[in-house]
Amino acid sequence: MDFDINFARNQFLPFANDPDFVFCSNAGGSYVARQTHQILEEYNRHMRVQPYSGYSPSREAGDAMDRARSLWSEALDISPDELTFGPSTSMNTYVLAQAIGSTLKPGDQIIVTNQDHESNRGAWLRMAKQEGIEVRHWNVEPEFGLLDGKALESLLTEKTRWVFFTHCSNLVGTVNPIQDHVQMIRNFSDARVFVDAVSYAPHYIPSPRSLGVDGYAFSLYKVFGPHQGIMYLDRQTAETMEAQCHDFNVGALAKHFNPAGPLHAEVAASAGVLDYFIDLHKHHFGQTSQDLRAKLDDLHTLTETHESHLAHTVLGCLTECPDVRVLGKQTVENNDRVCTVAFKHNQRSSSDICADLQNLGIGCESGNFYAYHLVEDLGVDPEDGFVRISLVHYNNQEELDRIVSALQQILG
Ligand SMILES: Cc1ncc(COP(=O)(O)O)c(C=O)c1O
Repeated sequence: MDFDINFARNQFLPFANDPDFVFCSNAGGSYVARQTHQILEEYNRHMRVQPYSGYSPSREAGDAMDRARSLWSEALDISPDELTFGPSTSMNTYVLAQAIGSTLKPGDQIIVTNQDHESNRGAWLRMAKQEGIEVRHWNVEPEFGLLDGKALESLLTEKTRWVFFTHCSNLVGTVNPIQDHVQMIRNFSDARVFVDAVSYAPHYIPSPRSLGVDGYAFSLYKVFGPHQGIMYLDRQTAETMEAQCHDFNVGALAKHFNPAGPLHAEVAASAGVLDYFIDLHKHHFGQTSQDLRAKLDDLHTLTETHESHLAHTVLGCLTECPDVRVLGKQTVENNDRVCTVAFKHNQRSSSDICADLQNLGIGCESGNFYAYHLVEDLGVDPEDGFVRISLVHYNNQEELDRIVSALQQILG
C-alpha cells in the first residue's frame, strides 16, 4: 500500500498557510495535527473549569482527560496507572530523579551516556551527587557520536541500579538497538533501564514492554500534539519508589510522579495525536476492529519506506559535500536511522550556514540542541554546534528536493 502523504499533510494547517516554507526542524517541535487543535479549542471554549466535578463542563473536562489516558495506555499497551502525564520530559525526569534517589544508597552505581539530551543526564548526575552514588559513563566514539554496546558491557556490575540512555539521539539520529542493550543489562546486572524516546517517538511509537525497558518517556509537542510529556513506568518499578505527589494522593499510582496539578487542557489534547493516527489508519486501511497498538504498527509499515528515503537522500547529499562532517550512521538500513541529520562544516560556522539555508526558505536550526556535553565531547564548540535537518513522515519530495538543492548551493 502507498502512503498518501497529501492526506497526512492536509491534517496540518501550516502546509496550506505557508506552502513555500520548508519546515525541517521537527526534532525541535513538530507541526500540530488538526485533531490536537480541535480538542484544545473545544476544551478551552467549553470545558475550561476545574475538572472531575459533577456539573456538566467539569464532567466533560474530566472525561476528556480520562479519554487521553485510556487511549495512550491502549497505544502503549500498558496499564492506565503506569502512565504519567507531566509538563515535559525534562520535568518528568526531574521528578523521577527525586523518586529514584529515595531508593539508592552509597555504593550503588548508575550508568549515563554523553549521547543524551541534558534531560536524560543532568537529573541523574544531580541525583547521584545528592545520594553519594557512583556514576559510570557510557561514552560515544568521538567521530560520529555512536554508542557501542560492548562498551556498556564493561560498565555493568552487580552494583548497577539504573542505566539511562536514549532510543535515538536528537543529533546523532541513529536508532540504538534497545532490546540488545536491555538483554545485555539483564545478563550482567539487576539494573533497571530508563530510555528517552523524545527523538524516536515522532517516527514510531513502540510498546515499551516489548522493548523490555522499565521506563520510557517522550514529548508530544514533537509528535504532532500539545506541549505535554508522557512517561511510562513499569508498575513494579514505580511501586519501589517514594511517591512525589501530595500525601493524600498516594493511593493513586497514576499521580505518584506528578507533584503539580496536571495541565488539564494539554492532557485532554494528548488524545489528538492518536485521533490523528486513527484517521490516518482509517484512510489507508479502512474501518477495522484492530486495537490502537496494531494500528500504530500498521502505520509504521506504511511510512517507514518514505522516512528512510528522506534520511537516505539527505545523508547522500551531505556525505558528498566537501569539508562536511555528518554525525551518526552515514547510511540507512532496516530503519536504523531517522531523518534527524546533524552536520558541521570544517571552515564555516554552523550559525552562518544555518542562516544561509534559512534565507532560502529552509526552516532548519543550528546549535547544541541541549545535547551540550555530546557536542563538547565531539570536539565542537557547543555555542555554535551543528546544523540540524530533521524530517518526519509528512515532509514530501518537493521539500526534499528544495533542501538538497539549497545544501548543494551553500556547501558546494
Ligand atoms: C532527545 C531529547 N530528549 C529530551 C528532550 C527534552 O524534552 P522536553 O522539552 O519535553 O523537556 C528533548 C527536547 O528537545 C530531546 O530532543
